[in-house]
Amino acid sequence: MTEQQTRTISPRSIGTSLDRVDGREKVTGTASYAVEHADVNGTAAPLSLWLVTSTVAKGRITGVDASKALAHHGVSAMLDHTSAPRLAQTDNAELAILQDDRVGFRGQVVALVLAETSEAAREGAALVEVTYEQEPHEAELREDNATYRPDKVNPDVETDTDEGDVDAALAAADVVVDQTYRTPYEHNNPLEPHATLAWWEEREGREVLSMFDSTQGVHGVVQALAPMLGLENDQVRVRAPYVGGGFGSKGEAHAHVMAVALAARTTAGRPVRLAVTRQQMFSLTGYRTATISHVRLGAGRDGRLTAIEHAVQEQTSVVREFAEQTASPTRMLYAAPNRRTSHRLAQLDVAVPSWMRAPGEMPGMYAHEVAMDELAVACGLDPIVLRERNEPDLDPETGKPFNDRRLLDCLHRGADRFGWSTRPAGPRARLEGDWWVGTGVASATYPAMRQPGNQARVTALDGGRYEVAIGSVDIGTGARTVLTQIAADALEVEPSDIDLAIADSLLPSATVAGGSSGTSSWGSAIVAAAQLFREDHGAHPDPGVHTTASAADDPAAEDYAFHSFGAVFAEARVNRWTGEVRVPRLHGVYSVGRVINPRTARSQLVGGLVMGLSAGLFEESHRDPRFGHVVTQDLATYHVASHADVLDVDAEWLEESDEVFTPMGSRGIGEIGIVGTAAAVANATFHATGVRVRSLPLTPDHFLDA
Ligand code: MOS
Repeated sequence: MTEQQTRTISPRSIGTSLDRVDGREKVTGTASYAVEHADVNGTAAPLSLWLVTSTVAKGRITGVDASKALAHHGVSAMLDHTSAPRLAQTDNAELAILQDDRVGFRGQVVALVLAETSEAAREGAALVEVTYEQEPHEAELREDNATYRPDKVNPDVETDTDEGDVDAALAAADVVVDQTYRTPYEHNNPLEPHATLAWWEEREGREVLSMFDSTQGVHGVVQALAPMLGLENDQVRVRAPYVGGGFGSKGEAHAHVMAVALAARTTAGRPVRLAVTRQQMFSLTGYRTATISHVRLGAGRDGRLTAIEHAVQEQTSVVREFAEQTASPTRMLYAAPNRRTSHRLAQLDVAVPSWMRAPGEMPGMYAHEVAMDELAVACGLDPIVLRERNEPDLDPETGKPFNDRRLLDCLHRGADRFGWSTRPAGPRARLEGDWWVGTGVASATYPAMRQPGNQARVTALDGGRYEVAIGSVDIGTGARTVLTQIAADALEVEPSDIDLAIADSLLPSATVAGGSSGTSSWGSAIVAAAQLFREDHGAHPDPGVHTTASAADDPAAEDYAFHSFGAVFAEARVNRWTGEVRVPRLHGVYSVGRVINPRTARSQLVGGLVMGLSAGLFEESHRDPRFGHVVTQDLATYHVASHADVLDVDAEWLEESDEVFTPMGSRGIGEIGIVGTAAAVANATFHATGVRVRSLPLTPDHFLDA
């Protein structure tokens, strides 16, 4: 593989709101999502799969009786731990389903039913009788059981940090904020459920598994499944042409993907399809752990921080470890000579937690930014002035200079736009009718990530057109559109001259649509391939010539800490009689490098703000520790913000370009919109009412109690 040193590209299409290149297919309904690919591998329609899941939280399966299920019309087979195909590798216990009689959490896959129709499969699954020998389980996160120290936290960073003498600095501080903040379990709930269609065939004497999967990364699914199935990577092909959102829950393959692969191995080539139900998405496809953040801030009377401590407690699953990096933004956000962070987990007999939009930053920045608001009140300072006084010269975490830290620019721009200067000192300064009215602000930050391991291929076609190929996925973000723009500008042609090929693991390798790293990672590879192509083949290439390349890191990148920043402003109205919270205005200003496509970027940032608003006001999964499962397992009981809740929400960005980070000048925008938003709303409700809420969501009871 050629590694190409990239040069900054001149924006021509970049920076314009090119229409979504797949917009027509989507709005006219001709875009096929995973299980809609009915016509694969010959004429037989796919069999439908239904998952039978455990009704106990921990124990052993003592029997599976499928006699009634198999007698049901349309049902063709049942697979359990005694009959499912064996796996070659079982290290990933979340994926290694049906290999033994152990049950690790309520809702785990214990059997599969195959049938001619989805209805018959569902009815058949209901008729499977599973008996268990139940064992005592632990399914409740508490301060006294979250004591386990993981080796690393997501994605692969230090569990604890400790610099200076936090205790001494707190003892000597003029002002101390010492509070505990809580965030609830949250579930990703993308619009399209997790869904997979798979079939096995033999090609040239080798088994080949083909899949359409609703995933954020086709290569990642191959890499997860192939070794477990005893296959080489080139024996698995995964495609994901259209994906109806993921928010992180489709970032890694979950158990349902393996269920389809195993079931399809038994059907002599007939395809098998599964769409996970909304209810099953509350146990099988990942979620955000609840968090408990113990925050202590020490400061002088002028608000200058002398100590920052953020000790996190949260949970993981005994089945597979996932440790959310909740205190990680605290490590780099504000200056303070003494700082300490830690993460401790309860290891519970529960479903496996995973990525959810801005894992770490979202719950961590809620805690940190509400604590900063409390410090501003304690010091009698405007919260923006408090942040000005704690702006670091260098990244407090690494000691490196920031690439382009424009947090204060975001705060100042937002303050102008929002009309911050007329804000009464408050709290409880404005009553309009039955509504207390207040405003709040919070910072946002998200690391800029460029993943290694991305390659792109440029091929000359007839008529001055080019195919540009990379195995990345567009999960609804607009990736297909912005990659087309990047390819066009890198090749110095029109976007209409580009045939972009993505979402197939046969294409050059690409990393996951996650960590807000997609555009940076894939776009840099495309620029590398385009520039090398031009060097090798010139401006008038022969049709058919092609170049594959990956982007070499800019050596200057070693010298900087790369982060994006933002400022979120919220107005909240709290009903004095009912405690209902409304957010009539929510405004975010971001520094995210160059924006490739203003329309799709705005959609990402506004979407993040809305998801943060939703987390602020509504989202909360309730686990019943007696049974170990989440009981709010539908969209009637798990509330997400709907149109009537989303009023004036807007996002804007600073004009800039981060050319050390990527040849496009962009940094990534998928997650930063959710960061800090719940804190801004919470801070606005304090300003409105004088009631400080230290646990999400901001339900009416908090305000009625006061
Ligand atoms: Mo995002 S939670 O990294 O898909």
